[in-house]
Amino acid sequence: MRKCVIFDLDGTLTRSEEGIWNCVRYAAEKLGFPEPDAPTLRKFIGPPLGYSFREYMGMDDEMADKAVVAYRERYNVVGLFENRVFPGIRRLLRTLKREGWYIGVATGKPQRASERIIEHFGLDKFITKICGPVGDHRPDKIDLIRNALPEGWNADMDDIWMVGDRKFDVEGAIGAGVKSIGVGYGYGSEEELRESGCTQYCETVQDVIDFLCPGAAIPAGAFLSVEGLDGSGKGTQIRLLSDVIDRYGFELQLSREPGGCPISEKLRDIILDRNNADMDDVTEVLLYAAARAQHVRQVIRPAVAAGRVLLCDRYVDSSVAYQGGGRQLGVQRVLDINAPAVDGTTPMATVYLDVDHETSMKRRAAATELDRLELAGDSFHARTEAGYRELIRRDPERFIVVDATRAPEEIGKEIAEKVIGRLMEAE
Ligand code: TYD
Repeated sequence: MRKCVIFDLDGTLTRSEEGIWNCVRYAAEKLGFPEPDAPTLRKFIGPPLGYSFREYMGMDDEMADKAVVAYRERYNVVGLFENRVFPGIRRLLRTLKREGWYIGVATGKPQRASERIIEHFGLDKFITKICGPVGDHRPDKIDLIRNALPEGWNADMDDIWMVGDRKFDVEGAIGAGVKSIGVGYGYGSEEELRESGCTQYCETVQDVIDFLCPGAAIPAGAFLSVEGLDGSGKGTQIRLLSDVIDRYGFELQLSREPGGCPISEKLRDIILDRNNADMDDVTEVLLYAAARAQHVRQVIRPAVAAGRVLLCDRYVDSSVAYQGGGRQLGVQRVLDINAPAVDGTTPMATVYLDVDHETSMKRRAAATELDRLELAGDSFHARTEAGYRELIRRDPERFIVVDATRAPEEIGKEIAEKVIGRLMEAE
């Protein structure tokens, strides 16, 4: 039996309220209306726009038409992409595709806008056909679902499911003669979905995977690391990148080194303790490696195997740069010491926040409390920088080197583009 699944877009694959609300606010401001409050904004999700501007903001017909024009003006340029893919959706689509399912989309959002959203988030490679309203023609959900089906397929001979978050999706599926899954993570409630007669109710994205593809292998996630000298702005960039990874529907897990799990965090306390001034360099490099061995096995590998994107604040490159370069133990020696800890687990990509050691030192001087490593002298940091440069020279494919002396948002944008590109390539 051939297998086919048709998805609704808003509330099922993506959540669009951020863009919708920003555009409603924009239209209100442009026409001199007071900024709508949160409960009013929430009502805008679902019904036709003109109706909402009239009913919820008290506009007359002429004003509502103007508001729709203003809304679209912003929506078509930026609002469209102020959208989030639900966490786990990429994993669901990857699994379905691998298991040989045909995937279509039937949505009430205009077809061109839907296509742009799906392409923007790189979901087009999973989806064969997208059906939404074109021009002023407003087909009902039944027709949209029928059009999204592959030519010649029918519910008597094939296994066909519609997946949606509202009763309109379920009613459309019933009208089109196909089975339906109501999902509980979107805008509708379990009660609404069950009352409208869905064949199956799934609370989470994982429930949909388990229901449609029971026992399917989990597609591997990815391992990413972020590196840089102290004061390179790693914390800010990790925060910005985390939001982007999540927005694209990858399942993010954050970790750090030294640390990331209870045993390694204990080792971290010993390593960074300002009272341990007499720690030998060899002890130090072995403690970092020991913390790493535990972290790789207990956190990094399990996260990747579970399909998540593990984003790690520092990894073995830090040892090579700081202990190999800074402490002068030598690049190759530190790599050899770390070989059993790392045991072949290498990041798919490593973001290097490029600031030279002088800039890094100035930024550090502005910080209040320095830890043991940060207290080391300036030539230490010059050698650490040289260690990083050597690593980048050896492995230019893995490193994403960004000029980290610019404005944080600008740096964040470049990192986001490059990292998302790599993640999508690997899917
Ligand atoms: P942390 O407070 O996490 O600093 P940062 O925010 O700069 O990452 O402390 C980590 C310190 O440990 C940092 O100075 C770099 C150093 N380090 C090494 O020397 N070797 C290593 O292998 C790792 C992971 C970190």
